[in-house]
Amino acid sequence: MLPFDVYPLWDVEPVRGEGCYLYDKNGVRYLDFYGGHAVISVGHAHPHYVQRITCQLSRLAFYSNAVQNSLQRQLAERLGEVSGYPHFSLFLCNSGAEANENAIKLASFGTGKKKALAFSKAFHGRTSGAVAATDNPRIVAPFNVTSNVEFVPLNDIEAVEVKLKTGEFCAVIIEGIQGVGGILMPDDTFLQQLRAQCNRYGVCLILDEIQSGYGRSGKFFAHQWSGIEPDIITTAKGMANGFPIGGALISPRFKAVHGMLGTTFGGNHLACAAALAVLEIFESEHILSNVASMGTLLMSELQQVSGVKELRGRGLMVGIEMQKPMGELRNKLLFEHKIFTGAAGTHVIRLLPPLCVGRQQVGEFMEALHKATERL
Ligand SMILES: Cc1ncc(COP(=O)(O)O)c(C=O)c1O
Repeated sequence: MLPFDVYPLWDVEPVRGEGCYLYDKNGVRYLDFYGGHAVISVGHAHPHYVQRITCQLSRLAFYSNAVQNSLQRQLAERLGEVSGYPHFSLFLCNSGAEANENAIKLASFGTGKKKALAFSKAFHGRTSGAVAATDNPRIVAPFNVTSNVEFVPLNDIEAVEVKLKTGEFCAVIIEGIQGVGGILMPDDTFLQQLRAQCNRYGVCLILDEIQSGYGRSGKFFAHQWSGIEPDIITTAKGMANGFPIGGALISPRFKAVHGMLGTTFGGNHLACAAALAVLEIFESEHILSNVASMGTLLMSELQQVSGVKELRGRGLMVGIEMQKPMGELRNKLLFEHKIFTGAAGTHVIRLLPPLCVGRQQVGEFMEALHKATERL
């Protein structure tokens, strides 16, 4: 049997990681400015992370959600404190899509309504509800096509109101910063107006912070730049630095009923230990302030690069929209300069480095980017 061939693969095989670097089987070093798709938060093979997981593995890796698990309580408490949502509660699952799936389901249970409103260029995952709320017909199978999801343009509050006033919607789902769509930002004022519209029409506001959350924007969640409080916040990616986990942070206005949500693996001991290790490192290494300072440095250095049409983003979630297609540039960065970057469409390079990236790595990246753009 072979792997089902759904991913176009680069001809590179990292076999080891350390901090912001990856090493292939020949010992060649690569700078990671992609974070395995915004997943690596505290860096590859962080000693505290490795020790915490190893220790838990040797004690108890998994038992079901039918028994007490104090690691889940510790994680909820710590995440509540670090994120600024101590009054919310936490439902744990295994991936971003699953977190969104549960968030939409909860909004629907809570309001008794069927429809969700999403935005142009949104990406919320590949499971049924999440993919239906994703604005990419190529990944929506006929089975997943539903009139229960409608789309409006990002930052168009009038279009939102036209939909919400029909009274048919249980939820609006929006990314803190659109990632797959090309690092597109909802305006802070738009988020404030969206919060007001959701209040007015009794609709649940779901903030998908799966890519933009966990410190990536320089605040714990990207929506916190706008000062709003959503009803449900979804998270995954950076949450356990690569160990599969997802979560929904749920406002106290939702009442939990036994059996309404559930999962076999979600919130297992090993995943909780990995997620706790990440939060511990966030605090001991002041990751949020590192993101803010390195993000500012990166953005100011990027202003000097030639061939750029537009720079977008916040913190260490940066989109470089090039005037010309960026495929050749990205290949040069990878194969000549040994630097991983991300992409969005044909023109946008996405930078999603580990959140512990330092001045030296920003310097290495900028030197390579200048060289690579000069010779295009
Ligand atoms: C904003 C956003 N939501 C949801 C998802 C889906 O997460 P997962 O692949 O863990 O299901 C992603 C993944 O890229 C994402 O960027």
